[in-house]
Amino acid sequence: MERLQKVIALSGICSRREAEKLIIERRVKVNNEVVTTLGTKVNRDDKIEVDGKKIKIKKFEYYLLNKPRGYVTTTHDEKDRNKVVDLIKTNARIYPIGRLDYNTTGLLLLTNDGEFKNILEHPSNNIIKTYLVKINTILDKNTLFKIKNGVKLDNHLIVPKKINVKKIDKDKNTSIIEISITEGINHEIKRIFETFNIDVLKLKRTKQYIFNLGKLNSGEYRKLTQDEVNKVYEIKKISNR
Ligand code: URA
Repeated sequence: MERLQKVIALSGICSRREAEKLIIERRVKVNNEVVTTLGTKVNRDDKIEVDGKKIKIKKFEYYLLNKPRGYVTTTHDEKDRNKVVDLIKTNARIYPIGRLDYNTTGLLLLTNDGEFKNILEHPSNNIIKTYLVKINTILDKNTLFKIKNGVKLDNHLIVPKKINVKKIDKDKNTSIIEISITEGINHEIKRIFETFNIDVLKLKRTKQYIFNLGKLNSGEYRKLTQDEVNKVYEIKKISNR
């Protein structure tokens, strides 16, 4: 349930303030009844009319995709490469939350709700993202220690919330590292390792905030539950306190 003036404003016909005026001026009907109380709670499925005309409300959609390799997360691509948005069957104009590189795989959230996207992208909310990184070496203790203490990228000191070595392949001289960070700098994981002349061979995002890949295979997606959407909006309530 949401406040009537907010829902009217979401339809794009006017601002919230103007919607309040419309309500006071008795120009708004909810399910055929004139409503004059500001803050009346309504559902998006309610029939809402302004001056006798039914308003159309944008329905928000939220998806969690297991991004395959070889897809861009931008909604337009000059080179006409495959786009993640085309993997999701919807008519809504959805966009990805944050970025993943063309060859990075794993967890990607998408929505047409700008506020939801802002909450998850805003640096002050310190949303933790976890990655599995396959590198072309066996990480020595000294480098691990340096990464733990922070790597400077674009004048930001990136201090991982967590980093540990998950697997070592001595024969192939590769290892898999799990790293959790809160920043959202371009190519940050690759650049952290590049600082030590280490190449990232594979990169997969496995977690973001409360979300994980669950049983989704590459290219598969699911809708978020209302409970999950609410949990993201909880972050905003906490940060506004
Ligand atoms: N860091 C990277 O380097 N690439 C990604 O796709 C995500 C994080």
